[in-house]
Amino acid sequence: MNHADFDFDTPVGRNNTSSEKWDKYQGRDIIPMWVADMDFRSPPAVIAALHERIEHGVFGYTHPPQGLVEAVINHLERDYDWQVQPEWLVWLPGLVCGLNVLSRAVGEAGDEVITFTPIYPPFMSAPTLSQRATVKVPLQLHNNRWVVDLGALERAITPRTKLLLLCNPHNPVGRAWTKDELQQLALVAERHDLVIGSDDIHAGLILDEGIRHLSIAALSPETARRTITLLAPSKTYNIPGMGCSFAVISDPALRCDFIKAAGRIVPHVNLLGYTAAEAAYRHGEKWRQALLSYLRGNRDLVEEAIGSIPGLATTHVEATYLAWIDTRTAGIDNPGRFFEEAGVGLSNGVDFDAPGFVRLNFGCARSLLKEALQRMERALQRH
Ligand SMILES: Cc1ncc(COP(=O)(O)O)c(C=O)c1O
Repeated sequence: MNHADFDFDTPVGRNNTSSEKWDKYQGRDIIPMWVADMDFRSPPAVIAALHERIEHGVFGYTHPPQGLVEAVINHLERDYDWQVQPEWLVWLPGLVCGLNVLSRAVGEAGDEVITFTPIYPPFMSAPTLSQRATVKVPLQLHNNRWVVDLGALERAITPRTKLLLLCNPHNPVGRAWTKDELQQLALVAERHDLVIGSDDIHAGLILDEGIRHLSIAALSPETARRTITLLAPSKTYNIPGMGCSFAVISDPALRCDFIKAAGRIVPHVNLLGYTAAEAAYRHGEKWRQALLSYLRGNRDLVEEAIGSIPGLATTHVEATYLAWIDTRTAGIDNPGRFFEEAGVGLSNGVDFDAPGFVRLNFGCARSLLKEALQRMERALQRH
């Protein structure tokens, strides 16, 4: 699929749309490349389905449409070779919500939750907000690739460790964990009887060709039994503001604990979220392939540009539209502020437990990306 079939190049103005990403720098000449949404319009099929639903004009309480459940099950089977039963799905209005519910669902107050850093910040705050201790195991850079340090993982586990929180693909380092890596983690989880919480929100965004997303729960029924997988169409089809997500939990007892922890506090998914999700999974594949092709081009540009700027380094982005950039040899005190002053709004690594790093969201028109990369280069030349 060629991305020329869809237009990702023409910038879509997002000012005056209450966009979190764009309003942060309203009125300032700073290109927003921080929070993880893309600047692209969603697939035409999603927009059409929303129009149709809006036209009906009645917006009452709505349960998950049967067609959506079927579309999700077909998608998981077709794209991830994962056979899932309809009753395993638990619908959620967001995945940060899912991370918090799952932190409460597993173990009890005072228990420990392990996660690999750097990491999307709610992985660290969700356990703490749930009266659990967050135990951080830093990823290691091995041959310029971020990997799990299995020895450090084993050493971090105590009798109070109950949950392993995995991000697959990993935000912010852009790794799509391999079968071998996932098998190793599954073995550790089995050995220490840990529940695995796997946030696979970026699963539809594997950029490297020839690789398929593999959910850890799809490894075997034994691993599935101890796993809660969190998924959503939100990142892939650029509908995060629609708030439609779900957990996949095959074990009835674990599912019951999860549903109990969500209680009556977690609201239903917005009906438009269901509509958008169903259209995305049913009719969005051509658009997704075109998007991946465009993002690959952006990714290559980022890797080339950052690699040629003295003081900056990055690793290969296998998945996601996020590049993780090491600024530590550039002699910058606060890289987030430094690049903002240069006209580029990045996410600051401190928030991901990695001072000295920044995260760049390249889910935008290529012209804007080129301008941002030039600004970064000029700022370092002046520094
Ligand atoms: C790994 C990960 N989980 C969850 C989220 C947010 O999910 P939601 O907007 O559904 O709460 C993000 C957004 O960047 C993310 O990268």
